Amino acid sequence: MNDKLKSINTEFEQAIACVSSNEDLEALRIRFLGRKEGLVTNIFKELGKLDAQEKPVYGQKINDLKNLITYEIAQKAKQIEQKAIKGVQSKGAEVFDLSLPAFKNEIGAMHPLSIVTDEICSLFVEMGFKVVEGPEIETEYYNFEVLNIPLEHPSRESFDTFYLHKKSLLRSHTSPVQARYMEKNKPPVQIVVPGKVYRPDATDATHSFMFHQIEGLLVDEGITLAHLNGVLSVFAKKLFGPKTRTRFRPHFFPFTEPSEEMDVSCIICRGKGCRVCGGNGWLEILGAGMVHPKVFKAVNIDSKKYSGFAFGMGVERIAMLKYGIDDIRLFFENDMRFVKQFS
Ligand code: DAH
Repeated sequence: MNDKLKSINTEFEQAIACVSSNEDLEALRIRFLGRKEGLVTNIFKELGKLDAQEKPVYGQKINDLKNLITYEIAQKAKQIEQKAIKGVQSKGAEVFDLSLPAFKNEIGAMHPLSIVTDEICSLFVEMGFKVVEGPEIETEYYNFEVLNIPLEHPSRESFDTFYLHKKSLLRSHTSPVQARYMEKNKPPVQIVVPGKVYRPDATDATHSFMFHQIEGLLVDEGITLAHLNGVLSVFAKKLFGPKTRTRFRPHFFPFTEPSEEMDVSCIICRGKGCRVCGGNGWLEILGAGMVHPKVFKAVNIDSKKYSGFAFGMGVERIAMLKYGIDDIRLFFENDMRFVKQFS
């Protein structure tokens, strides 16, 4: 019995060494493992002639041989496949394995911040504004100086900033684009500027080190605060609904004089007072004001001839109010279950 097993093994090793095609490999498999006349299959049948003690010993040995042969045939099949792929690739063709499972084709959705940004910009475009963009890596000059925020001015603290190297930084607001645009384009100017801004704030439900703003700027002859408040009121009604009321509170920004903040009547309770508006019926939406003469001077525009207004708003805050989102971090987690709710 031992001799027989050995000779089958030797015969198999010699035979498989000569195999180089799938057809030959299949013929080899049938010769050794075939159900009817396979050499290994046949030898199983001889077990019956052995006595009770020998049976399990040889049963095990035959099984081992069968497993070895099965394994080597599988290995050979892999080698043949690899060779075939290499052959095709060396001819410069692409390999398609039609038996592989297909990639799942996830259909995306527009991000809620993109939806709101587009909506806001479109409302201003309807009123004659043009959409422009500016760099996210800024200089101290454009982020601060040109906007009348000198180095020692305490208001720099409220624009706490990520510095990169030398005098470059990640812009902390979109206002620098006002100056960049006015340097190159003389009045009339009428632009909105969407984009990312950065501040080293600790992340929590209402703060993120990166967020989005939309800046607005309109400069022409005879522009007054009434124009500003009129444009912003129309904007608020278009964005939040025709029943929305607006109010303007005095405020301070270095680059506008006078400056103000606009509140809208709470879009949840319509002004009655609720959890979202903190009970007072109003929501702060944006900062605005009349362009400071010093800013005009820095960009070489005659402030005796021209006047203008500017405003800036945070996109996340507006999107959170509009959609009832209570945590800013949800915007940046790339969870499709969140993103798909808004399109
Ligand atoms: N840049 C201001 C900020 O980030 C927002 C702002 C306020 C922009 C008043 C303006 C403006 O253009 O006139 O907080």
